[in-house]
Amino acid sequence: MKLSVIGCGYLGAVHAAAMAELGHEVVGVDVDAAKVEALSAGRAPFYEPGFEDLLRRSLESGRLSFSSDMAAAAGAGVHFVCVGTPQKRGEYAADLRYVEDATESLLGVLAPGDLVVGKSTVPVGTAARLAEMVADKAPGAILAWNPEFLREGFAVQDTLHPDRLVYGVPSGKDGETARARLDEVYATIVGAGTPLVVTDYATAEMVKTAANSFLATKISFINAMAELCEATGADVKQLADAIGHDDRIGRKFLNAGLGFGGGCLPKDIRAFMARAGELGADQALTFLREVDNINMRRRIRMVDLAREVCGGSLLGKRVAVLGAAFKPDSDDIRDSPALNVAAQLGLQGATVRVTDPAAVDNCKRDWPQLDYADTAEEAAERADAVLLLTEWKQYRELDPVAFGQVVAQKRVLDGRNALDRDRWEAAGWSYRALGRRAG
Ligand code: UDX
Repeated sequence: MKLSVIGCGYLGAVHAAAMAELGHEVVGVDVDAAKVEALSAGRAPFYEPGFEDLLRRSLESGRLSFSSDMAAAAGAGVHFVCVGTPQKRGEYAADLRYVEDATESLLGVLAPGDLVVGKSTVPVGTAARLAEMVADKAPGAILAWNPEFLREGFAVQDTLHPDRLVYGVPSGKDGETARARLDEVYATIVGAGTPLVVTDYATAEMVKTAANSFLATKISFINAMAELCEATGADVKQLADAIGHDDRIGRKFLNAGLGFGGGCLPKDIRAFMARAGELGADQALTFLREVDNINMRRRIRMVDLAREVCGGSLLGKRVAVLGAAFKPDSDDIRDSPALNVAAQLGLQGATVRVTDPAAVDNCKRDWPQLDYADTAEEAAERADAVLLLTEWKQYRELDPVAFGQVVAQKRVLDGRNALDRDRWEAAGWSYRALGRRAG
C-alpha cells in the first residue's frame, strides 16, 4: 500500500520506517528540512536502538522516502498523523496546534476514499472535531484514530510487535471501510495474533491517556511507599519485589526512585486533568494531581539527600551526575528528572558535572549552564558525591573498586535503585538511595 506519515519525530520516523519494513511504500513528511535531510541520508536524528538499521534497510529497499513538502503525500491512500502534542506554555492542556496544522495541510492532498489516521496522543473529543473538518473540506475521506503505545528505547520492537492495536473508527459503512484499510496496513501484525480492539473515537483516544495515567500512578504509588519507607526504615525495593509477586499487581513499573519524566507521562496526565475539567468531570482525576506531586517531590528529596551526604551544604561541593536522559537508551531530555536534579544542585552552589552516553549534545543545547563530561570517570574526578540518576547499563555495571579511585569521597546516591548495594558497600562506598535505609 502507499502510505504517508506526517511528522517524523520519535513516533513518526519509526512508524514510517517500520511500515516500509512491512512492505508498504511510505513517504515521511516533516516541516523540519534538516530532519528530512538526515532521515533521507539514513541518519537517525535521535538516539533509538535499532532504528538506524531499520531506517537504512527501508531506504535501501526503495520503499521509504522523506520530504518537507506535503504535496509528496498525494497519491497515498492512508495518511498517518504523528505530530507532537506538547503541554501548552503556562497551562496543563495539550497544545493541539501541530495536529490541527498537519491535518489542515493534509486536506489539500486528500482524494475521496483516502484514510487519515491519527496516532498522536490527543484530548478526548479531538478526533470527532477533526473528522468534521475532514468531512467538510475533503468529502469522501475518512478519519480513524489509532493510538501508539511505543516506549522510547524499544520503539522499533514496539512498533513492529505491539502488544495490542486499537482502532477508533466512525460508525456505519465508513467505520467498516476504515477497519478494513487498517487491517490491510497492519496485515502482518494482525496475522501474528496481536489483540485488536475496534471502538469509537472517544474510547480510542482515552485508551492512550488512561494507559499512561495508570503507568504514572503505578510509579507514584511505589514512590509514595518509598517516602514511607524513608520514614520507617523499611526497604522499598524489597517491598516492591514482595508485592510484585502478586500477579494481580505485577513487578513492572514498580521501580522506586527519581520518578517519571519524558515527553509523554508528565504532560499526558496533566492534559488529561485539563480535559476532564473542561468536561465537568475534574473530580474523577484529582488523584492525578497527587500522582504528579509525589513524582515531583522525589526530585526535591534527591537534592536534599545529596546535601545531607555532603555534610549539610552543597556550596563548593563537586557532584557527579551519571545520566541526563529521562530514561536509559534514549537521548530525550524532555522533563528529565536527572537534569532537573542536576540544575537544582547547581543552583545550590555545587559544581555539577553531568555525563550521559547519548544525551550530552541535547543537554548542551538546552542546559548550557551545566558542565559536561564524556565519561563517568571524568565526571566523577575528585567528586564529593556521585549521583546515579539515569540507569544506563554502563553505569549499573561500573566497577566500584576502580571507580573509587577517581573520587574524593566514596559517596554514591542511587537515584534509580539500580546499583548492587552490597558490591558498592564492600568496595568502601557509603550508599544511599531513595526509599532505603542508610547503611
Ligand atoms: C511511555 C509509555 O510507557 C508508552 O506506552 C507511551 O507510548 C509513551 O509514554 P516512555 O515515555 O518512552 O513511554 O517511557 P517509560 O518507559 O514509560 O518510562 C517513563 C518514565 O518513568 C521514565 O522517566 C522512567 O525512568 C520512569 N519509570 C518507569 C520509573 O521511574 N519507574 C518504573 O518502574 C518505570
